[in-house]
Amino acid sequence: MSDLHVVILAAGKGTRMKSGRPKVLHQVAGRPMIDYAIVAARSLSPTTTTVVVGHMKELLQKGLERYPELSFVTQEPQLGTGHALLQTADLLEGKNGFVLMLSGDVPLLTGHTLAALLRKQEESGVAATVLTSSIDQPYGYGRIVRLRGKVSRIVEERDASPAQRKIKEVNGGVYVFSLPPLFDALRGLATANAQGEYYLTDLISTYRRRKLGVETVLLEDSNEIRGINSRSELAEASRIVRQKKNEELMAAGVTIEDPATTYIDEAVIVGADTVIHPGVHLEGKTEIGQACEIHAGVRIINSTLDDRVTVQNFCVINGSRLGPGVTVGPFVHLRPESELHESVRIGNFVELKKSVVGKGSKAGHLSYLGDAVIGEGVNIGAGTITCNYDGEQKHQTVIEDGAFIGSDTQLVAPVTVGKGAYVGSGATIRESVPAGSLAVSAGKQRNIEGWTDRKKVKSKK
Ligand code: UD1
Ligand code: CA
Repeated sequence: MSDLHVVILAAGKGTRMKSGRPKVLHQVAGRPMIDYAIVAARSLSPTTTTVVVGHMKELLQKGLERYPELSFVTQEPQLGTGHALLQTADLLEGKNGFVLMLSGDVPLLTGHTLAALLRKQEESGVAATVLTSSIDQPYGYGRIVRLRGKVSRIVEERDASPAQRKIKEVNGGVYVFSLPPLFDALRGLATANAQGEYYLTDLISTYRRRKLGVETVLLEDSNEIRGINSRSELAEASRIVRQKKNEELMAAGVTIEDPATTYIDEAVIVGADTVIHPGVHLEGKTEIGQACEIHAGVRIINSTLDDRVTVQNFCVINGSRLGPGVTVGPFVHLRPESELHESVRIGNFVELKKSVVGKGSKAGHLSYLGDAVIGEGVNIGAGTITCNYDGEQKHQTVIEDGAFIGSDTQLVAPVTVGKGAYVGSGATIRESVPAGSLAVSAGKQRNIEGWTDRKKVKSKK
C-alpha cells in the first residue's frame, strides 16, 4: 500500500462562530470538534498527520498537545482552502502516495467513510476523489456540477447561478489526492471568485482541463459531512452525537426517560437496568453499574458507581467512587477522591472532598467532610464540619468504626475520634477522643427564669 498523508485544515477564522476561541476547539458532545477528525484519520494509520493552523494558532496548538502524532504548518495570511493545502508543500511535495484532506470542522465523519474514499482512489487510479452527499437543504455547501454523469467542477454557494443552487449533491470538503500532480495544480489556482480566495474546490475543474481523473464517493448518511460554521450547527452536531450514544445505551438495556435532555459523553459506560431521569449529564470517564437510578438534574464527572447506587436529584459527583447500594442526595457535592463504601448514605446538603466513608456509615444532613477517613457504621450528625484547613495546610480527621458524632460538631483537624466513641452535640473537638469515651465541649447550660416576661415589660415602656 502507498503512503498516506493526512492533512487537516484548521487555519480559518471561523467568523460565523463569533468567538474569541479557535472554532475547531469548540465542543461537540463534550469533545473539541477537531478531535473527531483526528481520531477518524488515526484509524487509517497514516504515515504523517499535519494540521494547517493560522488564526489563533498558539491556542489551537496548545489545545492539541495531547496528540503526539500531529505536525503543524502555518498558513499566514489565510487566503482560502487551496492556499491552506499548499502550505504543506515543504512537507509533502516530491513524495508519492496519497493525501487525505479533511477539515477540522466536520466532526461526524467516520473512519469507515474515510477508508471507503481511499479505497475508491486506489482502485480507480484517478488523481482525486471527492466525498459528496445529497441533501435537501444544500445552502452554504459547494455544489457538485456534473457533465454526462462525471463531476466537472465544484461551485461555491456565493458563486453559483440560481440553477446551480438547486443542485442537491454537495461537496463534503473531504478529498483524497494522488501526490504527484497536486502541488503544481494548487499553484495554478486563481482568486477570481466572490470571496477572492484560492478555492481548493477549483482543483476539480483544473484536473478536468488537464485530463486528470476525478471520482466521487456518495455518502448515504449525509449527517457525516455536516460542517460546523455556526453555534446553531454546533448544537445540532452535538445532538446527533448524543442521540447515537443514547440509542446504543438503550439498546444495551439502559432506561433513558428523556433522551433529548440526557447528555452522555462517548466514553461513558452504563450497566443494564439502570434508569436515567431527565437533565442528567454523565461526563468523561464515568462508569455506572447495573440497576442504578440517577435522578433528574445530576452531573457526574470521571466517577465510578457500582451496582444499585441511587443518586437523588441535583447532585454533582466528580472524581469519586461509590460502592454497591450507596445512596446520595438530593443536593450532594462529592469532590475528587471521595470514596463511599457499600451501603453508605449521604443526605441533603453534604459536601465531601478527598474523604473515605466506610461501609454503612451515614451523613444525612448539612455537613462538610474534607480529608476525612471515616470507618464503618459511623453516624455523622447534622451540621458536622471537619475543619481541615488551618489557613496554610490541610489536615486529616479520622473517625473510627461505630463512632457517633452529635449534631453541629466541629472537628478541628488533625484529630481522631476513636472506635465507638460519642461526641456530644455542639462540640468543638480539638483533641483526639479515645475509643469508647464521650466527648463534650460546650459549657454548662444556664437558664435565666422569667426572662421573656421582663423583656416584654421593658419593650412596652
Ligand atoms: C468548504 C468548501 C465547500 C464545502 C464545505 C464543506 C471550499 C472553497 N469550499 O466551504 O465546497 O461544501 O467546505 O464543509 O473549500 N481554512 C483554512 N484556511 C483558509 C480557509 C479555510 O485552513 O484560508 C479551513 C477552515 O479553518 C476550515 C476549512 O478550511 O476548517 C473549511 O473552511 P470554511 O471556510 O469553513 O469553508 P466552507 O465555506 O465551509
Ligand atoms: Ca466549513
